[in-house]
Amino acid sequence: SKISIIGVPSDYGQHRRGVDMGPSAIRYAGVVERLEELGYEILDEGDILLKRDKVNKHEDTQLKNFKEVIEVSTQLSDKVQEVMTKGRFPLVLGGDHSIAIGTLAGLGTKYKNLGVIWYDAHADMNTPETSPSGNIHGMPLAISFGIGDDRLVNISGYGPKIKPENIIIIGARSVDPGERELIKKHGIKVYSMHEIDRMGMTKVIEETIEHLKKQNVDGVHLSLDLDGIDPIYTPGVGTPVPGGITYRESHLAMEMLEEAGFITSAEFVEVNPILDERNKTADVAVALMGSLFGEKLV
Ligand code: ARG
Ligand code: MN
Ligand code: MN
Ligand code: MN
Repeated sequence: SKISIIGVPSDYGQHRRGVDMGPSAIRYAGVVERLEELGYEILDEGDILLKRDKVNKHEDTQLKNFKEVIEVSTQLSDKVQEVMTKGRFPLVLGGDHSIAIGTLAGLGTKYKNLGVIWYDAHADMNTPETSPSGNIHGMPLAISFGIGDDRLVNISGYGPKIKPENIIIIGARSVDPGERELIKKHGIKVYSMHEIDRMGMTKVIEETIEHLKKQNVDGVHLSLDLDGIDPIYTPGVGTPVPGGITYRESHLAMEMLEEAGFITSAEFVEVNPILDERNKTADVAVALMGSLFGEKLV
C-alpha cells in the first residue's frame, strides 16, 4: 500500500526550540528507505510551511503561540485530508505534540468513530484553566474530544473530532491534577506505567485491540510521543520523564498493532535533535515505524 509522509516542523506548542527540526532528523534517520524496504510506495509530501513573523501579537489568551498553532493545525488538517483522498496512509512527523490537533481535525472528516492510541508519558489533557505551563502541546487530546479553547476545538469548522470512549493512553506517568479529573469524568482508558509493569505490554496491547474492536471503530490513529519511551532510549525530547516504556516493549507494541491490521494513520512527535545524542531519538522513531509497518525477523 501507499504511505504519505507529512513533516510538521512546529515548535509552537511549547517553549524549547529545536523540536521544529524533528522532521529533518527523522528523514535523516532513514524513514523513507526503511519503509520502502518493506515494500511500501512512499511519497514524501515535504513539510507544512510555517510563517515566522515577529509582529507583536495581542492575543486574548494566555496560550503560547495561539495564532501560530491555529494556522499550523488548519494547514495540517487540509494536508491530511488531501492525502486520504489520494488513498494514502498519512504518516505525520513532528514537531511538538500540539500538531495532533491538526492531524485529528483532518482524520475526523473521514472517520466518524476513530480510535486513538496515545503513546505518551503525559495525558496531554490540560485546558487553558488547568495548564501549569500555557503550552498547547499539553492540551491536544482534551481539545480533540471537545474540551478547551473553542477556536482550537473547532479547527476545520467542526468539533469534537473524537470520542473519549475511543481513546487509550499508554505509558502515562506524569499527569496533572486537572487532567486526572478529566480522565475520571470521561472514563478515559489509561494504561499507566503501573499497569504496564503489572500486566506486561502483551496484555496491554491485547486489551487495547479488544477495546477498540468492541467500540466498532472505523479507523485507528497512533499518536506516538517519543517521551512515552524511557529517556535512556529517547533523550531527545523536551519533557522527559524517567521510568518509561522500554525499547523492547515499544517494538512489541508496534508489532502487535501491525498484526491487528487496523492502524489507519500515525504520527511520531516531540523529536528534538538539539536535546538529542547523535540522533538517537529519531533513530528509535524510525526503528519503531519499521515494526509498525511490518518489519520482523521471521
Ligand atoms: N502536562 C505538562 C503541560 O501541560 C506537560 C505536557 C507535555 N506534553 C507533551 N506533548 N510532551 O505542560
Ligand atoms: Mn516556541
Ligand atoms: Mn504528548
Ligand atoms: Mn509527552
